[in-house]
Amino acid sequence: MSFSRRDFVRTSFLGTLAAGAGLRAQGESASEYLVEHPAEVAQNDDAQSGSYKRPIIICAHNGFNYLDDAFAFLKSGGDTLDAALRVVQGPENDPNDTSVGLGGLPNEEGVVELDACCMHGPTRRAGSVGAVRNIKNVSLVSKAVFDHTGHVMLVGEGAERFAVAVGFPRENLLTDHSRKIWLLWKEYHSNSDWWGPGLADPHWQPPSDAPQPPEKAKPQSELWQERYRGLEEHAAALGIAPEDRADAIHKVLFPPTGTIHCSALNGKGEISGCTTTSGLAYKLPGRCGDSPIIGAGCYTDQDVGSAGATGSGEENIKIAGAHTIIENMRHGMSPHEAGMDALKRVGRIYSGDMNKLRFVDMTYYILRKDGAYAGVSLWEGYRAGHPHMIAVHDGAKRSEVTTPLFKGFSQDFPPEPKVPDEVRKEYLK
Ligand code: GLY
Repeated sequence: MSFSRRDFVRTSFLGTLAAGAGLRAQGESASEYLVEHPAEVAQNDDAQSGSYKRPIIICAHNGFNYLDDAFAFLKSGGDTLDAALRVVQGPENDPNDTSVGLGGLPNEEGVVELDACCMHGPTRRAGSVGAVRNIKNVSLVSKAVFDHTGHVMLVGEGAERFAVAVGFPRENLLTDHSRKIWLLWKEYHSNSDWWGPGLADPHWQPPSDAPQPPEKAKPQSELWQERYRGLEEHAAALGIAPEDRADAIHKVLFPPTGTIHCSALNGKGEISGCTTTSGLAYKLPGRCGDSPIIGAGCYTDQDVGSAGATGSGEENIKIAGAHTIIENMRHGMSPHEAGMDALKRVGRIYSGDMNKLRFVDMTYYILRKDGAYAGVSLWEGYRAGHPHMIAVHDGAKRSEVTTPLFKGFSQDFPPEPKVPDEVRKEYLK
């Protein structure tokens, strides 16, 4: 590969430019990058008064279509973890959801590897599986770990063999659609290996970012446009439908970490949570993100509440995000405050350096034991027109935009908004 990580970072910005994502004037006041946080408002009066007795389910937006069935199950007396698992099995079974289960984007070798964990509040049990191949419903496998073993976490081949032993079928999880996006990624990063068109191809050209004599050097914007056009041509050659090409190119340039978390609370005050994912697209084989890490991707404490995460797994592991949120609530913070504090800790990993935080994305889904809930995120969304959302069902099913810590979108432009010292002190100490 001749395309360095540094080049990738640089052209990612240009890519956002070329894709026409929202630009922001360089001179804009830096304080506008931070959202003013309104005084905490309880999301419902019952929760405020501590008399909340209705069931409620919260989840990442890709669980929205599965909430009705899970809520009916919960309302009729179903277990809270089983209700949450009903929700996340939807995206796991959906070949068109490229972030979870069947059809998830694969690792760098083209193999789908899944992570999941769950916690059952009433019995205080936990289960987890990481880097599992060939098994679609890893959320259920994570529950099977505590149902059938004295362990909490199984990974890799051992986890797969365990899943087969307890009755899960082996199946090919790589759909044609995800395979083509992976191939596009592979060809895009491929100038000096044998992937992509070779010398014998009539359209082969030397890579445009290869060293050029000074008189032939092109401006970055022109190089970028050539790359984008090249990606479009590759996508067409791979048979990616015209309407899917822009999305596929985005997934090549900005490898997604999409995931689903779900927490459920019943009328008895029992609470559980689970998280499942195919993880970071094109990851190194064996990489586990935050989703299978009890305390990072998901944490439930029957005394306090349940929380989970989607987004940049490596960062969330470093702050034990879900556990941090539960401990914050245990010490009196509201769900909103608890989530914002965790996001600020993510900011502190990079000392508030927006040039780095721009590439980090994090959303927390938080449900307190009394039914109060919050959805909070580091940025408004991962690109213009795609805000982060939390889906909720408490008798009325709805999607709500999460409250962001920073205004704008991850990997947006410009790359280096200047954060004034007073703002940095307040939010990123
Ligand atoms: N949050 C999902 C991952 O990083 O794998």
